[in-house]
Amino acid sequence: MTKYIGILTSGGDCPGLNAAIRGIGKAAQGTLGMQVIGFRDGFRGLMENRTVQLDGSMLSGILTVGGTILGTSREKPHRMLIGGKEMDVTDAIIANYEKHHLDALVCLGGGGTQKNALYLKEKGLNVITLPKTIDNDVAMTDVTFGFDTAMGIATEAIDRLHSTAHSHHRIVVVEIMGHKAGWLTLGAGIAGGADVILIPEIPYDLDNVARAIRLRSRSGKRFSIVAVAEGAMSKADAADLKAAEKKKEKAKNKSERQNAKAAITAWEGRHAGNTLRLSRKLEQLTRLESRVTILGYVQRGGTPSAVDRLLATRLGTACADLLNEGVHGVMVAARGEGTEPVPLEKVAGKRKLVPFDHPWIESARLVGTTLGD
Ligand code: F6P
Repeated sequence: MTKYIGILTSGGDCPGLNAAIRGIGKAAQGTLGMQVIGFRDGFRGLMENRTVQLDGSMLSGILTVGGTILGTSREKPHRMLIGGKEMDVTDAIIANYEKHHLDALVCLGGGGTQKNALYLKEKGLNVITLPKTIDNDVAMTDVTFGFDTAMGIATEAIDRLHSTAHSHHRIVVVEIMGHKAGWLTLGAGIAGGADVILIPEIPYDLDNVARAIRLRSRSGKRFSIVAVAEGAMSKADAADLKAAEKKKEKAKNKSERQNAKAAITAWEGRHAGNTLRLSRKLEQLTRLESRVTILGYVQRGGTPSAVDRLLATRLGTACADLLNEGVHGVMVAARGEGTEPVPLEKVAGKRKLVPFDHPWIESARLVGTTLGD
């Protein structure tokens, strides 16, 4: 029987985390008679045994609050920075899990957290996870909480940029979060009516983008909105990255792997600031004035949308229910109107990218949006 559970939030924060903590806590403690504690700042707080009692008063009034009341970090159990050195703190984590007589640990997080959860499961802990991230790139779930709110914020930003772009007859390049996955840029780009949408999954040809903007200009449209994901890249950059990644995959020894990793890091260094360069190049190619807006962390902040509150509550309460039935070793996925437990092995190390033939892509093309390919 599950009696004692611990909760932590890990990875980048997002709107809806508190709604999920509340959903788990209220169902587990209020309805199912379990004891619930929280660990502060992700796996670091678990290692350092920094806890908070998640009783009725802590769980009250947090549904609408952004961020996470527990705090978060990007720390990993097997590689935690201690005194400037990376150390494996798995033993300390297991000791604290046992010290609190936990029957299960709930980890709320994105792709990295799913990997860490599987790792702890393999070390013998009862772990269960919930999928959160504004990037919507966790595998095996229809959607993650945080995504809807961030998409709303990015869409509103594009709406606002339209009027200033229109007034000044400019190109406005708006950078939206997402290093590997383009869901947020694609969703907000379509909802906000961006004229060009560039995502990591579809490398772009700059000349094609410039041509589309020039055509708009010639047809009397005197502004263009370019929605670009942080990780969007040109075809040439994509080819370079692919080659470096292939070298890493095929590395036969440690030194080859290190060299390949260094090449990838160098590529990432060169790619930083890509949005600013993209804007400058578009200015040169179109002879139209261009401005950049980087939305950044604004997209992760503030009040969760009704959709995210509902999703987080559904997943959180389903999680408590599963724990009550003695189920763990799974991620609680959103599936249609309901939820589904998916073994962590099927989730960890995988990323849900935008498929080339996704209906959103087709819709974008059909309304005349340029995707740069
Ligand atoms: O994973 C969510 C995310 O917001 C990404 O879209 C973004 O690239 C990244 O986190 C930023 O991470 P950090 O908070 O570590 O700067």
